Amino acid sequence: MKTIGVLTSGGDAPGMNAAVRAVVRSGIFHGLKVMGIKQGYKGLIEGNIEEMNLSSVADIIHRGGTTLRTARSEEFKTDEGRGKALNVLKVFGIDGLVVIGGDGSFRGANALSKEGIKTIGVPGTIDNDLGYTDYTIGFDTAINTVIDAISKIRDTTTSHGRANIIEVMGRHCGDIALYAGLAGGAESVIVPEEEFSADAVCKKLIKGRNRGKLHSIIILAEHIVNPYELSEEIEEKTGITTRVTILGHIQRGGSPSAFDRILASKMGAKAVELLTSEETGRVVGVKGNEIINLPIDEALKIENKFDKNMYNLTKILSI
Ligand code: F6P
Repeated sequence: MKTIGVLTSGGDAPGMNAAVRAVVRSGIFHGLKVMGIKQGYKGLIEGNIEEMNLSSVADIIHRGGTTLRTARSEEFKTDEGRGKALNVLKVFGIDGLVVIGGDGSFRGANALSKEGIKTIGVPGTIDNDLGYTDYTIGFDTAINTVIDAISKIRDTTTSHGRANIIEVMGRHCGDIALYAGLAGGAESVIVPEEEFSADAVCKKLIKGRNRGKLHSIIILAEHIVNPYELSEEIEEKTGITTRVTILGHIQRGGSPSAFDRILASKMGAKAVELLTSEETGRVVGVKGNEIINLPIDEALKIENKFDKNMYNLTKILSI
């Protein structure tokens, strides 16, 4: 192993820069040449690649987004696209690759590994939707962004005696809603893993109002129900004015938390260590306090477990 490449792919996540920095610096520490591939698999196909040095990753550990930029490449999913990518890797003499992204990016890394390129995946997504790892890079920062928003929205909600539905991201995973809901003291948390009942939300609101509650925060994970239709239903059934806030991409930005920076640094360094041991087709993760690694095939088969106990706790604490 002489030359490795690093790319970030899929939705960006706070902490990706810290992971890139760890890959570049530990790669150089191990005597490797490190190439930065811009715009994920799209940039790989296009040969948008340049050598990185210690200074290329200076002043980025605290920055959100990804300085390598990212993309969702449809072309890379085709045999032809992957063929082009393999040629580019050969031209640049890249024999090892660190892919920082989510499950789609890992599938791409696995395909390249099967074609003989040594690849290691590092989980970077705010969704925390990868079952093999306790946490993905970016999740902690995202939930902190959400709880900051909840606090602000609660101020105005209380002043007016209203309810507010806050829609959060997560794709098909309820972790952002669940963790932010518990940490933000939400009255109701609606997640894809649990059955949704508008009546249960309304009942909670009426109970709260009857004991003098001045606000109600309803955290709604995306893709479950239209938040505006839900707010109309709540207003009709309870008489409580209900506003909607869709947090959107604000959840993907911002300076990474200390947790995400540390996780990203450890994972990026581990990925390089695996490449120097000629390992391939593996992903790095965290279980408890330990950085783990396992085959991509195996990792992608592990179903994401929803923390039902934590969900029940949000209900108990918001009675
Ligand atoms: O996977 C990260 C994520 O932010 C999801 O939570 C969300 O559903 C999706 O990406 C949004 O994607 P885009 O930025 O392409 O609209």
